[in-house]
This record gives sequence, structure tokens and C-alpha cells, in this order.
Amino acid sequence: MTDSQHGPSTRLKAVDTTIGYDQRIISTDLSVDIPHESFTAIIGPNGCGKSTLLRALARVLSPTKGEVLLDDKKISSYGAKDVARQLGLLPQTSLAPEGIRVADLVARGRAPYQSLFHQWSREDEKAVKEALEATRTDVLSGRLVSELSGGQRQRVWVAMLLAQQTPIMLLDEPTTFLDIAHQYELMELLRTFHDEGKTVVTVLHDLNQACRYAGHLIVMRDGKIITTGAPQDVMTPELVEEVFGLRALVVPDPVTGTPNIVPLDPRAEKNVVSAVNPEHENATAGGR
Ligand SMILES: Nc1ncnc2c1ncn2[C@@H]1O[C@H](COP(=O)(O)OP(=O)(O)OP(=O)(O)O)[C@@H](O)[C@H]1O
Ligand SMILES: [Mg+2]
Repeated sequence: MTDSQHGPSTRLKAVDTTIGYDQRIISTDLSVDIPHESFTAIIGPNGCGKSTLLRALARVLSPTKGEVLLDDKKISSYGAKDVARQLGLLPQTSLAPEGIRVADLVARGRAPYQSLFHQWSREDEKAVKEALEATRTDVLSGRLVSELSGGQRQRVWVAMLLAQQTPIMLLDEPTTFLDIAHQYELMELLRTFHDEGKTVVTVLHDLNQACRYAGHLIVMRDGKIITTGAPQDVMTPELVEEVFGLRALVVPDPVTGTPNIVPLDPRAEKNVVSAVNPEHENATAGGR
């Protein structure tokens, strides 16, 4: 791989990495580029290694072989705070310290900016205020995190990540626990971060949301990257079947035109698809 291929178009990448836990290897020789300023979604079945990859990209997990590079330098060679000013991670599950209130948890996102010589500043105050407002958690700011609903808590974690003000945001299933309206509200919020020039990388289980919002997909199975690319280029019935073992149609989303995955009914003799795609009277398997 040459620099001219990767160069300024990517700030974060994994090169020939082996990643896993103790004796358990999850991915071997895995290489992936996160396109600069992209909205990237990582998709794949449960247990395929999405969170493991995200954790390696965030430097939470060190590859046993190969390197994660940030601006073409080993991510392990940076100071922890230097990395934390460039990229932030919203893990799949997070545990808030006991007795902490919303505003104080969000304020922890400012830790990479604190030091002996740089105490809490107006800038920190502003970042926290903006993060609370953007996620509409400002109304919860005095509440105990432990006494919030799952969905409210999830939005508070996103606020904390936002307060960190990193150009690269990594999120692991941020829409878990959210009702459908809040899911789309969060996806819209991620889209505004992307519009503002941030690189957004998120693990998602909802393929239709991934195709609607992401410009770039990383598709994984069994610790490997099966394919990467724009949703309209990579999302096919064959891919859905290969990766998820699900027979489905891929039709244009009636609202956005992006790929929309509609599972076939395994019990039906004929799957009626004329309502969504008038060209087909019925289908036995998408694309065949
Ligand atoms: N801390 C850990 N120690 C050992 N094995 C782990 C650990 N965390 C995850 N694994 C294993 O690594 C594999 C990949 O897990 P990972 O969490 O990356 O999957 P995932 O694609 O994020 O799945 P999901 O969609 O369920 O979140 C799984 O087999 C899992 O059991
Ligand atoms: Mg996961």
C-alpha cells in the first residue's frame, strides 16, 4: 500500500491488524481505511467483530499485530489526551459513575482539555452547554443519570461524546434503546455533525438507516471485512444473504431512494412485492 493511495483522504486506518482478546483472536490481517470526513457505518451480524474493530480504531484495544494509524503515525505513539482530542468513542455499553448528574457526566467529555495548568474554562462551559442543547438533554441536566430511561441515558452519552469536540466520532450502536422517532432524531444529529465536517463512524444494526445516512459502508462477517463502499454500490440481495443469511429484496427507499432491505417471507409461497416495486409481480429471492 502506498501513501498516494491513502494519503490525505484518510486520517484513521488499520493496517494488517490482528485484533482480539487474550488468547481469542477475532480478526487477522484486517486492513481498513476510514475515509476523511465520511459518514461511515459498520454493519454485520452479532459477534462478527464490529465493536472489536471500533475499539481498536479508538485505541482502547491494541492490535497484537499490525498498526492503527492516525495521520500516518502509530496511534499508540500519541499521548492519551492527544488522541482524545482527535477521536472520541461512544462504547456499546457504558456505566456511569454512581450518583453522577447529567451535566457532570457530559462535563467529563472535557477531560482531554484539562490539565494542571488548564483548569475548567469558558470554552469548556460552552462545549458542555452546546452538547446538552444539541442532544436536547439540557432539560435533564440536573437529573441523576441512574434515574433516566434507557433512551434518555443514551442521549446523555452522545452529549458527552459531543462535548469532547473531536473531529472523529466513533459510535457503537448509538440508537439502541431509542424509540423510532428518537432513532431518526439521533441519525439526523449525526448527519449534522458530518455536515459540519466531522468524520462519523458508527456501528448500526438497522441496514436501512445505515444506507440512508452513511455514504460509506464497512460490511463485516466472521472478523473479516467482506466489502466496503457506497450503499448503492454494495448493498445487494446477494450481500444480505451472504453476510446475514437473510433472503431479502433490496428496493429503493420510497422516501430517499437509498437501498432499502425488505426481508422475504420464508413461509409464503409467493412473496408479493408489487406494492413496493411494481416491476415485480412476485419474487422467490431478491435479485434472482
Ligand atoms: N472482552 C472480551 N473478551 C473475550 N472475547 C470477547 C470480548 N468481547 C467480545 N468478545 C468476543 O469477540 C467476538 C466479537 O465481538 P464483538 O463485540 O466485536 O462483536 P459485534 O460484531 O460488535 O457484535 P454485536 O453486534 O453483538 O455487538 C465475539 O465472539 C465475542 O464473544
Ligand atoms: Mg458490538
